[in-house]
Amino acid sequence: MGRYNETLVSASILAADFGNLESDIKRAEDAGADMIHVDVMDGHFVPNITIGPGVVESIKKFARVPLDVHLMIENTENFIEPFIEAGADIITVHYESCGIENSARIMEHIIKQGIKAAIAFNPNAKHSEIIEALDYILTKNGENSIYMVLLMTVFPGFGGQGFIPESLENVIVTESFREERNETFHIQVDGGIGPDNARDISEAGADIIVAGTAVFRALNIVEAVKAIKGS
Ligand code: DX5
Ligand code: ZN
Repeated sequence: MGRYNETLVSASILAADFGNLESDIKRAEDAGADMIHVDVMDGHFVPNITIGPGVVESIKKFARVPLDVHLMIENTENFIEPFIEAGADIITVHYESCGIENSARIMEHIIKQGIKAAIAFNPNAKHSEIIEALDYILTKNGENSIYMVLLMTVFPGFGGQGFIPESLENVIVTESFREERNETFHIQVDGGIGPDNARDISEAGADIIVAGTAVFRALNIVEAVKAIKGS
């Protein structure tokens, strides 16, 4: 278990019914979801297309919990402003799309607008790449400037994929870095997570679990969210 004792759930609407987003999001919130995870895909950075700022703006009108926007796109810098205007509360940029220096710059810009900034790494990111990137961003933007580090536990692009066990190593490495540096960022994990494996992943140091299929396709959504949180 890492810095945070409580495990939060960010419900990924990729597995929701897009025709009934409002009622599905309400169902997730009522079940105890702490955030709504919005997967933005552009068909370039990942081989799939999902939604843009317009949908975030609509969701913002009724959502009661923060909107956690995961950008899996190229030219990330061009889309920060539209997502901020749409009402994103947390914006996550991908290391693999932006690189180190640009990630730092974009995150600085996000923070200056009063929004929480996060960085995501693919499951095959090397430990040294993660550490080097985090160290650079924290040196450049300041201690505790990173709200969240998202460690992908599947390759981004699609919901409903199987959890990649080797990706747990990245959680462990990031958790020790957080401890050593006495940093406050949250560790978020995303992909293939549900009641069966959430506990091991939380124990490795993750404290925000993204779950799409396991939440929106659950027979009992209340039980599912409770089980993922381990409470
Ligand atoms: C994958 C997305 C995930 C995905 C998670 O590219 O970033 O957020 O929707 O879905 P599940 O929980 O179904 O693996
Ligand atoms: Zn995601």
